Amino acid sequence: MSVAPFSEDQLRSALDKVLYPGFRRSILSFGLVKEVAIEGGNVNVQLQLSTTETHIPKILKQEIEASLGTIPGVENVTVLIDIQSPVSASSSGPIPIPGVAHVIAVASGKGGVGKSTVAVNLAVALSQLGAAVGLCDCDLYGPSVAFLCGVNKRPEADDKDQIIPVKAHDIAIMSMGLLLEGDAPAVLRGPMVSRYTQQFLRQVAWGKLDYLILDLPPGTGDIQLTIVQTVPVSGVILVTTPQEVALLDVRKAASMFRKTNVPLIGIIENMSYFTSPSDGVRHAVFGTGGGAREAAQLGIPFLGEIPLDSDVRASGDAGVPFLSYTTTNKTSEVADIFRKVANSIKIKF
Ligand SMILES: Nc1ncnc2c1ncn2[C@@H]1O[C@H](COP(=O)(O)OP(=O)(O)O)[C@@H](O)[C@H]1O
Ligand SMILES: [Mg+2]
Repeated sequence: MSVAPFSEDQLRSALDKVLYPGFRRSILSFGLVKEVAIEGGNVNVQLQLSTTETHIPKILKQEIEASLGTIPGVENVTVLIDIQSPVSASSSGPIPIPGVAHVIAVASGKGGVGKSTVAVNLAVALSQLGAAVGLCDCDLYGPSVAFLCGVNKRPEADDKDQIIPVKAHDIAIMSMGLLLEGDAPAVLRGPMVSRYTQQFLRQVAWGKLDYLILDLPPGTGDIQLTIVQTVPVSGVILVTTPQEVALLDVRKAASMFRKTNVPLIGIIENMSYFTSPSDGVRHAVFGTGGGAREAAQLGIPFLGEIPLDSDVRASGDAGVPFLSYTTTNKTSEVADIFRKVANSIKIKF
């Protein structure tokens, strides 16, 4: 068998251009593509649809064949469509959170790369753009959102026994950090992790939100899996430092989200360099260009570089998100990146 002259990534980007009839979202972003297999020049695509309309599978088959057929080297495209009745599909798959338009996850392979910092500031940036935003700290073992946002109020329950998220910086916040006493660790066994994750998503009165930002724990564990199986995630932002060990793990995270059909919005590189305040010289403490290279390799957008910045560290320690810490009109490289990413999310979703 000869090696195909095209990659699965090429096929997936072509599939990402095939829109679901009547929608502005692609079949890929809806999670309908279950498998893409390559055998020489032959491509097999497996779709799973839940529809009662007979014209939809037909249209999709034609459009997939046309889109993949333009890739050099693709000889044959076979589209297999598995149709489930809408009822059985919705009872087993992810179910939207009522009132929440888009769930956006912030993930990484490694811990300590600045995921929570990015999640918090992205939430603030989206809110400053006028969106209704929630921020759910899904890092049950290492919750830091409450600390980074300077909140320590215990959330109360409403009359329907839903947890009322705590409001700060114009964002609705829920974190394990709000439920634990002092510095007590969260002692949770396997099944409880999944149960807490589901509770944070479903038993919190999130209200009407344009975006619910999820700050995920590092890696590809039970929490991530529970999330992708429980709610439809519109997209995930991957955070990494330029260092090879961080890139190695972010690659694994990317692969997990791809396998579970969660669209990758792009990569943010954090701690990219440090500018010496005395002479203005840039030091690439963790190496250079790793995030951009990885994004190119994954075929996803590179969203920007965030330098090591003492104000970012200080704002985190002060419990004030960087975007609220600096005055909004202060020109800052870091603030610009958070705003730029928030803007692109707002345009996309
Ligand atoms: N660009 C940056 N410059 C300076 N400090 C940063 C930067 N990004 C994150 N930090 C600090 O590094 C620490 C770890 O960041 P955090 O967002 O908690 O990482 P993670 O959620 O990936 O574990 C925090 O104390 C945070 O304030
Ligand atoms: Mg964190």
